[in-house]
Amino acid sequence: MKIGIIGAGAMGTGIAQLAAFSNHKVLLYDANQDALNRSRDSLLKILNRMAEKGKISDADAKGIFGNILFIEKMSTFANAEIIVEAIVENLEVKQSVFRELESIVSADCILATNTSSLSVSAIAAACKKPERIVGIHFFNPVFLMKLVEIIPTLQTEESVSKKAVKWISDMGHLPVMAKDTPGFIVNRIARPFYSEALRILDEGIADAATIDHAMTTVGGFRMGPFTLMDFIGNDVNYTVTETVFKAFFYDPRYKPSFTQQRLAMAGYLGRKTGKGYYNYNEGAVKPEPNTDLELLKYIFERVLFMLINEAADALMYGVASRDDIDTAMKYGVNYPKGLLKWADEMGIDDCVNALDDLYDLYREDRYRCSALLRKMSYDNTTFYD
Ligand SMILES: NC(=O)c1ccc[n+]([C@@H]2O[C@H](COP(=O)([O-])OP(=O)(O)OC[C@H]3O[C@@H](n4cnc5c(N)ncnc54)[C@H](O)[C@@H]3O)[C@@H](O)[C@H]2O)c1
Repeated sequence: MKIGIIGAGAMGTGIAQLAAFSNHKVLLYDANQDALNRSRDSLLKILNRMAEKGKISDADAKGIFGNILFIEKMSTFANAEIIVEAIVENLEVKQSVFRELESIVSADCILATNTSSLSVSAIAAACKKPERIVGIHFFNPVFLMKLVEIIPTLQTEESVSKKAVKWISDMGHLPVMAKDTPGFIVNRIARPFYSEALRILDEGIADAATIDHAMTTVGGFRMGPFTLMDFIGNDVNYTVTETVFKAFFYDPRYKPSFTQQRLAMAGYLGRKTGKGYYNYNEGAVKPEPNTDLELLKYIFERVLFMLINEAADALMYGVASRDDIDTAMKYGVNYPKGLLKWADEMGIDDCVNALDDLYDLYREDRYRCSALLRKMSYDNTTFYD
């Protein structure tokens, strides 16, 4: 197929690599010529490195690179079959790009957005043919992260979603279907991984190193929440949290933390600025965690029960199916297990009791137990047989 990509940044470059590997002809466009040049250089470097390591042959590297055309005008998209937009996360800019695209492409070209936090419906609403708009949400780095969320809007034609699913599966990635609600699956359900960790820190129950240690050792997560936030960037993570909070009509469950906001304001963005929750500058000493097992278990379970609560609520509201929710968290953020499977293993009654204990202690809506979990506890059922 002929695939168009708008935006040659981190995501657009990754999507181009993936599509070119599957032998699609890729048209990659960016409004900024320097960004397009950087993308070309980085793709060439990646492919050469893969050839050096023997992962692909030299001829394959040349062929794959040859599949990508770096274009300077959007009009070149005229005969593309699918176009994926991966530009700046701004609704007005995206809407205007989609409007322009509609005047260029053929009537049956699918227009997809890679937005992480905007409403796909709001982007579609600006289009003449909203039925061809769909969210195709890749994860970073695109080539390695197998998960892709497919987000139809109320207006999206079924054939469009089906074609998107097929395109992603054919490239060897894992499509899951998500409702067009804030954060889709992963960015919604993962919120407590950060927010509950921050709450534990803010209350002085444990420091960042101890919370990270609890999540990696007791929980088996690849990275602790603070290491991960420093990796993502505290500005980026704070913005996603704030966007999701607003988009949920200020539901207290998604309330951002002052600690993270202040870090973002101070420019302590994490690895990229050398300082975040941790200091990455040369000679900095890594703080030692508290290794009290009871404390570590308390931290891990508190965060896990909040994650399970979020996953159960997403299932109750039909954001995605049980299997897609568990797949999404395993392959979108590398969780060691699917959260609904984990809920069964912890025991549904124990999940409900732990959440009720937190609610009783704090009397905050943030800790309300999902009605689905409570119902399952009454009915003595589990997510899996
Ligand atoms: N980075 C991530 O981890 C990630 C993950 C999933 C989804 N996303 C989403 O993907 C999109 C792109 O993110 P990114 O991290 O690749 O950003 P980026 O800043 O690395 O790249 C964006 C590119 O878009 C170009 N651009 C901006 N406005 C344009 C326009 N009007 N026309 C053409 N090109 C334009 C910029 O020059 C830039 O090269 C955003 O919507 C983001 O929310 C990002």
